[in-house]
Amino acid sequence: MAPFSDPYLEHAIGGTPIVQLKNLAPSSGQVWVKIESGNPTGSYKDRMAYGVVKNAFARGDLKTGDRMVEYTGGSTGTALAHVAARCGIKFIAVSSDAFAQSKLDAMRAYGAEVIVVPSEERKITPELIAAMKQQAYEIADEPNTFYVDQFGSPDVIEGYVPVGQEIVEQIGADIDVFCAAVGTGGAFMGTTKGLNQAGQTPDLVALEPLQSPFLTTGQGGAHRIEGIGLGFTPPFLNLDRCDEIRAIDENEAFKMCKKLAVEEGIFCGPSTGLNVTAALEIAAERGPDSVTVTLGCDHGSKYGQTLP
Ligand SMILES: Cc1ncc(COP(=O)(O)O)c(C=O)c1O
Repeated sequence: MAPFSDPYLEHAIGGTPIVQLKNLAPSSGQVWVKIESGNPTGSYKDRMAYGVVKNAFARGDLKTGDRMVEYTGGSTGTALAHVAARCGIKFIAVSSDAFAQSKLDAMRAYGAEVIVVPSEERKITPELIAAMKQQAYEIADEPNTFYVDQFGSPDVIEGYVPVGQEIVEQIGADIDVFCAAVGTGGAFMGTTKGLNQAGQTPDLVALEPLQSPFLTTGQGGAHRIEGIGLGFTPPFLNLDRCDEIRAIDENEAFKMCKKLAVEEGIFCGPSTGLNVTAALEIAAERGPDSVTVTLGCDHGSKYGQTLP
């Protein structure tokens, strides 16, 4: 079976810049943010989408003309729709009106079929995620339909390994803490694997929204940070490897988006705001000699008026 390789995608995905915060972290330790919005659909999900599709083609699980399905808040869906368009497969996204309209539009722009599961007052709740998952499973049972399995496929983790490797090369110093918000946990664990492979073993701090503190309290809830805080422990997340799990107030995360744009020139979405809020807290606690790294998950332009 010939592996699928697309020279454009190989070149366009990854190799993103990293920024050290100057104005928001003047006297604390160093805070570095890996800016993933430069990937083709504006988020780090491009890395996992290409990783999953490439390896599925190589194994013969996917071939041109097949269908592929996943339930997604939109960033993963947009990334999958983009890769699907490149390699001639149809993508079906099970999503919801709880997520940014621009993401649903982007999936459709790449030719995806988008099934919208209605939410209550546009809130992301554990019940909504369960309803989306159920619908995706039913479609995945149909013939010639590949289930991406963003919560379980090892190809997801592998897709993010280069993030960690790039970070080590870019910073060129020992990293004390790596913190990142967790949805599937793929970016957090895959980046960690890359950091470890490149010789770095920072303390690991997994993050979640205070309004849906399942990992810290066992109780999920309604919140507004797209892509994370899903109300269950994602299978990728190895809690034994985490030094800490920290819940961050979503209101602080949204305020941080504004501050990052105005004071650092980084226009990002709310999960990045949450990551940076936590990274700054940690850097202040660890002191001036510390190095803390986090991820800039996606670009703020996806969120329209939901950002302050
Ligand atoms: C905008 C955004 N941030 C963060 C995440 C969390 O990433 P992961 O699923 O790799 O944990 C997601 C996942 O969908 C996302 O869409």
